[in-house]
Amino acid sequence: MRVLGIETSCDETGVALFDSDRGLVADALYSQVAMHADYGGVVPELASRDHTRRLLPLIQQVLDEAGLARHQLDGIAYTAGPGLVGALMVGASTAHGMARALGIPVLGVHHMEGHLLAPMLEDEPPAFPFVALLVSGGHTQLVEVRGLGRYRLLGESVDDAAGEAFDKAAKMLGLDYPGGPHVARLAETGDPKRFRFPRPMTDRPGLDFSFSGLKTHTLTAIRELEAAGNLDDQARADVARAFEEAVVDTLVIKCRRALDATGLKRLVVAGGVSANVRLRERLERETDKRGARAYYPRGRFCTDNGAMIAYVGAQRLLAGEHDETGIMKAVPRWP
Ligand code: KG4
Ligand code: ZN
Repeated sequence: MRVLGIETSCDETGVALFDSDRGLVADALYSQVAMHADYGGVVPELASRDHTRRLLPLIQQVLDEAGLARHQLDGIAYTAGPGLVGALMVGASTAHGMARALGIPVLGVHHMEGHLLAPMLEDEPPAFPFVALLVSGGHTQLVEVRGLGRYRLLGESVDDAAGEAFDKAAKMLGLDYPGGPHVARLAETGDPKRFRFPRPMTDRPGLDFSFSGLKTHTLTAIRELEAAGNLDDQARADVARAFEEAVVDTLVIKCRRALDATGLKRLVVAGGVSANVRLRERLERETDKRGARAYYPRGRFCTDNGAMIAYVGAQRLLAGEHDETGIMKAVPRWP
């Protein structure tokens, strides 16, 4: 089955073609990051308009790369949520319009299921069951995954997502959006011993997270340095390092607990923050120690992309699922 996947939930237009016999055949991405950078965050209306501009040319590019004509598609999958409603509607309406014209099934899929199963696109995909740590700009979740659609939420953030915390810390440090990679780069030259930030919610049992307190902690540290006239480049790097250490350490502690609680030996780490090198190093050490193994999507499939949507769509369309004719889905909040 040849499935076109469309991702437009936020600020990346992603399109890919997944063939259930041949695997991932083509994928293309247009990032709007530069456009939103001037505003310090994603401007929803600008995002929708840009998806409208980019989507059809990207679809054509993917079909050309795959050497396929439209009528050779067997199905279309799109991100139906969660995300920005206007942005979602661009992908949903395009997918439904194309599917109607071609007389093929179409399916709206959950964006986080895409992130969850993105490592399945790698050469050595994890076998079921596994524990997944989903860490993106909108979500921080630990999930027990038994099979396609068989998910149990073990814990999640009660306030900010880990990526959101990175973005907010970046803003306070005067870094560009999206902040995660910038904070990580600045932290490289930081002294890990100068400041110690708290590891929220690790002093009690449970698998939930909270990252909003770290934000306040970061702001206080910056203000104190500023008041003392000590906010130089080294101090900013030291704050970035303390912040990153705190987030990474918290994530690692909770992953360890989730592996203990489930007795599982495979850990999938996905979503934008899974690109963080220090997080990967720490998790690698942790899984090695206990004879477990960590799995990640390749770099460009850590953040939003069409490939993960095409993959999930293909699995679910193959299982016989599809949207009702003419009923497109755009669900901004989808548990
Ligand atoms: O999964 P994603 O592309 O979009 C959402 O669905 O949210 O994740 C984007 C998030 C942003 O908050 C960004 O700052 C964060 O992932 N991120 C990182 C790194 N690369 C991206 N955070 C920490 N370290 C990184 N290297
Ligand atoms: Zn995402």
